[in-house]
Amino acid sequence: MAEGPKLGFAPFTAPSKGVLILFCDEKLQFGPAARKVLAPTGDLVARAAASEKFTGKSGSALELVLPAGLDVARLVVIGLGKASDLTSKDFIRFGGIAMGKVPGSATNAVIFADLPGGSMKAGQAADLAFGARLRAYAFDRYKTKRKEGEDKPQVANVSIGVSDPGAARKAWASREGVANGVVLARDLINEPANVLFPKEFARRAEALKKLGVTVEVLDEKTMQKLGMNALLGVGQGSVRESQVVIMRWNGGKRGTAPVAFIGKGVCFDTGGISIKPASGMEDMKGDMAGAACVVGLMHALAARKAKVNVIGAIGLVENMPDGKAQRPGDIVTTMSGQTIEIINTDAEGRLVLADVLHYVATKYSPKFMIDLATLTGAIMVALGQEYAGLFSNDDKLSERLTKAGDATGERVWRMPLGPEYDKMIDSKFADMKNTGGRWGGSITAAQLLQRFVGKTPWAHLDIAGTALGSPQTDINKSWSAGWGVRLLERLVADHYEK
Ligand code: BES
Ligand code: MN
Ligand code: ZN
Repeated sequence: MAEGPKLGFAPFTAPSKGVLILFCDEKLQFGPAARKVLAPTGDLVARAAASEKFTGKSGSALELVLPAGLDVARLVVIGLGKASDLTSKDFIRFGGIAMGKVPGSATNAVIFADLPGGSMKAGQAADLAFGARLRAYAFDRYKTKRKEGEDKPQVANVSIGVSDPGAARKAWASREGVANGVVLARDLINEPANVLFPKEFARRAEALKKLGVTVEVLDEKTMQKLGMNALLGVGQGSVRESQVVIMRWNGGKRGTAPVAFIGKGVCFDTGGISIKPASGMEDMKGDMAGAACVVGLMHALAARKAKVNVIGAIGLVENMPDGKAQRPGDIVTTMSGQTIEIINTDAEGRLVLADVLHYVATKYSPKFMIDLATLTGAIMVALGQEYAGLFSNDDKLSERLTKAGDATGERVWRMPLGPEYDKMIDSKFADMKNTGGRWGGSITAAQLLQRFVGKTPWAHLDIAGTALGSPQTDINKSWSAGWGVRLLERLVADHYEK
């Protein structure tokens, strides 16, 4: 895990020689604690703002080096825009922006959790810390050299100035677990496939045992006995053994049905015999982002002791071309008994999920199943990188996911399913084929998954666009944003912990 800044909470005090970060609104109004600390500077900030045309616009910043009257190295003023009606998402973003203003050479920084109307609430201050933590993440474990003249990056002490540190720390405790879950997902996705192959991934999932999660690993022999031939077929060209990992968190009432999350974990997707073009293939180390999100989510829920029973299930394989690899034309019998004709070995994610979805639906009878998968390039054509595709047999679940997406900024857009699309995957030789042609490629993929969920309420999130090469935001500067952990943590918190 990349070492982030040391985050803490302390009563409002300016850092001696450090970086002081304050917020103001669009009328350049500061909170009481900021006004007090700025008193000795007279009209310095007002004059600097006029000179720099800084108007307190949301997310803008004014930076002063060695401000006269203060014993700090740097003063940063961040605009809140209109300071009323700010949501949790806004405070997280402001925390990210503030963190982005801490120079790599700084050893200590203080962010005042202060608003024009008074100091921030504990939860709002903790949201700042959450955004700061995510912003500070960098996957740099394979960078062994520094550029000429570059400062050694410091592990900065970043403190959030608050009126009640105890209350802020309490609010942060649950958020810290979620932040660590996001960071865990990012680390797994960024990790290259020579390091993170199925067994190593399973080993890292086993670390969740420390948080009280039960972790069970199914090896190939076990899967053969269960008849998971669709999943096994994908992995059969690889020297790396396929694995299924079942994680269980029982924080809810004994005997109540669990909610279930299922992730596609293709540790590397070459396409197999239907091999992909060379250009950009390196990104396919991230074809396990769905599985990473499920592991990050289990971490988040267990760390904050969520009052809910949860199953996390991930199918881990490597899709390789080889003398032993699966061929186009092969027919596999899935664990459900349904048969699939392989038309294209590069449509492998749905084969992995078919067996894991059936296993979870029949073994655990969950309240619902949500799967996450970097499943199709077509979803990027349809939705770009801002929204994940949502496919579902359940309107209530879809609506809840959509709302959780708007609240967290990890947004989903519902796509259609239907019998007309379903017949596009009927096969000449088997019950179905694994591709439905170029048109509606994300939909026909989802139709195949639907054939393995039975009557269980289910939603499928196609995250090929959102999870990899993620848009750079105020709280993510990484190739992988760890997309989905916050969305699903929010869904569970809002509806399934009562
Ligand atoms: N893992 C890919 C989808 C993908 C593409 C994810 C780009 C992230 C970025 C998936 O296994 C795949 O290859 N899908 C094929 C399906 C086709 C063969 C029907 C695709 O989208 O081209
Ligand atoms: Mn593929
Ligand atoms: Zn794939």
